[in-house]
Amino acid sequence: MSWTCPSRGGKDQGCQQPSPAPPPARAHQEPAVTAATALPARTLGGLTSSAIGFGAMVLSPGVYGETDEQRGTTALLSALDEGATLIDTADGYGPDGHNEQLIGRALRGRRDEVVLATKFGFRLPEGVAPHPFPVNYGFGELAVNADPRHVRGYAEASLRNLRTEVIDLYYPHYPDPQVPFEDTVGAVAELIDAGLVRHLGLSNVTADQLRRAHAVRPVAAVQVQWSMWQPIDAELLATARELGVGIVAWSPLGSGFLTGTVQQVAGDDFRRHLPRFDAANLKANQDRFAPVRGLAEDLGISSGQLALSWLLHQDEHVVPIPGSRTPAHIAENLAAARIALSADALARIDAVLKDTTFEGTAAVVD
Ligand SMILES: NC(=O)c1ccc[n+]([C@@H]2O[C@H](COP(=O)([O-])OP(=O)(O)OC[C@H]3O[C@@H](n4cnc5c(N)ncnc54)[C@H](OP(=O)(O)O)[C@@H]3O)[C@@H](O)[C@H]2O)c1
Repeated sequence: MSWTCPSRGGKDQGCQQPSPAPPPARAHQEPAVTAATALPARTLGGLTSSAIGFGAMVLSPGVYGETDEQRGTTALLSALDEGATLIDTADGYGPDGHNEQLIGRALRGRRDEVVLATKFGFRLPEGVAPHPFPVNYGFGELAVNADPRHVRGYAEASLRNLRTEVIDLYYPHYPDPQVPFEDTVGAVAELIDAGLVRHLGLSNVTADQLRRAHAVRPVAAVQVQWSMWQPIDAELLATARELGVGIVAWSPLGSGFLTGTVQQVAGDDFRRHLPRFDAANLKANQDRFAPVRGLAEDLGISSGQLALSWLLHQDEHVVPIPGSRTPAHIAENLAAARIALSADALARIDAVLKDTTFEGTAAVVD
């Protein structure tokens, strides 16, 4: 494997030649992954993915600033060209399936290069009753509905949007407080039996919900917020390890904060609802993050790369899914899959993180 520690003029301490990616624990059946630039691979249950995937939420308007069809398409295709083989979307990203539709159009002719993951039950179609789901965003709650009676309709809409015959990894976006979780999971199991879905995923769940779901149908991956500024729940991680379930880490760059480049958030930026991006908190958090930026500089990598590489070193079955509209950022992020941090570098990071508290909560659910 040819490899260099991506250097931006720093001292390159702590970067090492990585050992070759371990072979997948289970045979990879489908889809055929033929990305132009192979990245190290990781397994998520029975799936194989590039060690870092691509989170597509940012490609819809009203999330992290301006975007349009051309910019979104270019970004997505550059992620494929840089070796990302896990693409993450949801029926709730953008209005009326906007995000899935963009991906469906952009992937024309390249569908088989990727593991296509989507989620359901948030941003509901007309006629579906909203069930409140309390969150720590400024607006207080989301509307979800994961009633099994709606799940096949959600999946059929996503299949149309994505222009595909099968969803590789399908997640309830949030567990519905008004529906027994086993019933939601059972509806996805039926889709698997019908050949419309390949693997079951769960998103924003507890360890108990993971265990109950896994008893209904083996879970390939749990999607959870996990980054340098938002630890994963220890019980959830232990349960995933015990059951052989992979972890997909969402907002692995702390919604952009961990790149060290966010100075303020505009009025149309979703982050205005996130407590850590409140103007006063953002300033304080930047100051507290300065030592991590310094460590990245010492290592000759960007602080975003440090955040992603650090995550990859936490567990061999974690796959972060950073999002970006910018090809240069995407190349930088995916290159982090080739960075190996020394034990000394990891100890230095953990020592800094242990003493760092951020203002405002990053947890979506308490
Ligand atoms: N399951 C869930 O409930 C859930 C919730 C949230 C997110 N997710 C998933 O997780 C994915 C990623 O999360 P996210 O988009 O919220 O957050 P993220 O990946 O942590 O951060 C995205 C932000 O970082 C910026 N960025 C990315 N790379 C950069 C770089 N190298 N330098 C400077 N800025 C950079 C992007 O701006 P630019 O466009 O300017 O690069 C964007 O504003 C989403 O796309 C979605 O698929 C899931």
